[in-house]
Amino acid sequence: MSNSLFDQVQSIQQDIANTSLDNLEALEAFRIKLLGSKNILKPLFAEIRNIEPARRKEFGLLINEVKSQAEEKYQALQKELAGVQQDQHTIDVTAPGEPVYPGARHPIAITLNRIIEIFAKIGFNVAYDREIEDDWHNFTSMNTPEDHPARDMQDTFYLKDSSQYLLRTHTSSVQSRVMTKTQPPIRIIAPGRVFRNETISARSHCQFHQVEGLYVDKGVSFKDMKQTLYYYAQEQYGKDVKIRLRPSFFPFTEPSAEMDVYWGLNNEHDYRITKGTGWLEILGCGMVDPNVLESCGIDSEKYTGFAFGMGIERQAMLKYKISDIRYLFENDVRFLNQFTSAL
Ligand code: PHE
Repeated sequence: MSNSLFDQVQSIQQDIANTSLDNLEALEAFRIKLLGSKNILKPLFAEIRNIEPARRKEFGLLINEVKSQAEEKYQALQKELAGVQQDQHTIDVTAPGEPVYPGARHPIAITLNRIIEIFAKIGFNVAYDREIEDDWHNFTSMNTPEDHPARDMQDTFYLKDSSQYLLRTHTSSVQSRVMTKTQPPIRIIAPGRVFRNETISARSHCQFHQVEGLYVDKGVSFKDMKQTLYYYAQEQYGKDVKIRLRPSFFPFTEPSAEMDVYWGLNNEHDYRITKGTGWLEILGCGMVDPNVLESCGIDSEKYTGFAFGMGIERQAMLKYKISDIRYLFENDVRFLNQFTSAL
């Protein structure tokens, strides 16, 4: 009996020693529990008379010691929390809360993420490379002749005092970056920002984004390219999408084509953006020119490949019915806030 009373007091003593708190409510609870009018030591004081006389004094000393320990601890905790206490006094709990503005992804990022996801499903890895490029990777390796108009200062931003370095005009530069480092099989997409010296208008900008695609292996054919691009169009625009390939020209692909998706002619807006045809061009593509493979150290007798390059802005504008490309670069929150619920 008396042993268990000793135990109880000792266990309270332990608890006091182990107490650490970080707020005023807990401090008050500590005070009530150990020093309040109904504190847990009180009933133990009353037990003194039940202790066998030989140990009564010992018990009395112990319980009084514990009581003063509780008081000392309370003082110490109070001091410790004094700083916190001050802070708490300055908080006005009736003040209205700060509004929380959820972030939003930029429509270009949303569109790009979707493109990456679609190509990842068929085994394309993502490759990133530099925006400041040298002439060789951007033009020469891409079979673009010295006198090609794209090389003109009128079209390309060259770095000051340099005909060697420029802001890349297309993500095709990543093709040569990858092919000079890796042997086939190569299956990549390369998203990124590109720059052209163009007058800014509702439809064109001096900076925009592209996603390049490149697939080089043994026996890659035009048929593979067409099927890959059709798969892409279905994933992006729905299973019933209609596409068409029109012959075109790029120095780095042969044969070359441009791909259109059928947008429809349901209203005046459709007539305007499709110039009355119902079709919208979304990308350029073609079989990698053997000269390009050879410049990059890939045996064109052994390997063939296809490449494509698509604009992201154009597709984001289609998807979200954005009428002016400049909205995409102005970072006006009234515009960007409209995408808070998009993934
Ligand atoms: N680089 C071309 C452009 O910017 C697009 C393209 C990429 C065409 C790859 C064919 C193959 O217009």
